[in-house]
Amino acid sequence: MTEPRPTTVRLQKMSWAFTESAVLFGAIEVGFFTAVDRAGGSAEAIAADLGISLANTQRMIVALLTVGLIERDGEGFRNAPDVERFLVRDKPSYAGAWIHWFHHRWGEWGKLGQRLADPEPGEVMGHYDDSFTVEHARSYHQATASVGMGAARKFLREVDLLGRRKILDLGGGSGAYSIQAAKQYPEITAVVLDLPEVVVVAREFATEHEVAERVSAEACDFTADPFPGGADVIMMNSNLPMYSAEVIRSVVQKAFDALEPGGEMHICGEMVNEDWNGPLIPVMCAVHGALDHSTALPHTPSDCIGYFEDAGFRDVRVREFIPDILQHISGRKPG
Ligand SMILES: C[S@@+](CC[C@H](N)C(=O)[O-])C[C@H]1O[C@@H](n2cnc3c(N)ncnc32)[C@H](O)[C@@H]1O
Repeated sequence: MTEPRPTTVRLQKMSWAFTESAVLFGAIEVGFFTAVDRAGGSAEAIAADLGISLANTQRMIVALLTVGLIERDGEGFRNAPDVERFLVRDKPSYAGAWIHWFHHRWGEWGKLGQRLADPEPGEVMGHYDDSFTVEHARSYHQATASVGMGAARKFLREVDLLGRRKILDLGGGSGAYSIQAAKQYPEITAVVLDLPEVVVVAREFATEHEVAERVSAEACDFTADPFPGGADVIMMNSNLPMYSAEVIRSVVQKAFDALEPGGEMHICGEMVNEDWNGPLIPVMCAVHGALDHSTALPHTPSDCIGYFEDAGFRDVRVREFIPDILQHISGRKPG
């Protein structure tokens, strides 16, 4: 048996893959899924609900059926279950702000080929440069919180913090993990350490969630500044792929040194497979480094275990947290 001769089909499909993101973003922008929920009985009803042409509605229907975001329902259409839960506006579970978030990187990704030839300055912190403002931080964290609060509740179902007293939440953003921990454990206080623009926003979230007395926020560049003492839990979530091994290694060591004896560290981060062949989101987070001129690089579970064990942590474990997106590594400082 000879191997089938390769064709261009797979490559052609991949060259169109960006249109799939475009259809998702466009549907969110016009409220297509909300209209399907309200008026999915026919293309005409959806068009009327949205106030767009029937032709454009039909174009979107064929595209959304093809990518599996809507399904046929008798003569009409319904949203796929995840779309119904997360992309119908006004539902408490609406996460459209986050699912649409990366639309703003559209133009930058189009320049990847150019960026690859740039010299490697490697000095820009994460994705953040001088143009980062409080307004940007606010809209960013309204988006991250739309999924982060749920992720934090899941984290707390999997991690028992009973008896713990003080959390340092490195790059805590909206403060989602600290806020949910403070809600669940009345004796816990937490400090969100983040960039000055984000600190303003984290305080707003803590106030909105009525835990501002126990969840504070302080400006700190976790790659350079010292950490306050007295914490028995340190976490750093969704920051891993913005930084190189060297940076993460030093942050983990600094966290180990700052923790109380017997304390624990957690990182829920975008790790790539041991053989570097996926999953897509952690891999593309690392590719961001080329667009941002940051130190972003891929980290595997073994790399992360090395950062923890070399710092002195014991009982180091990696488990899946959000499939294909976040792995969770934890370790304990000997008591
Ligand atoms: C993707 S968000 C994650 C927020 C939060 N941990 C969560 O999981 O919802 C990353 C956060 O890390 C912060 N960050 C990135 N680099 C940082 C640094 N060097 N020092 C402090 N905060 C940093 C960003 O400002 C942002 O708020």
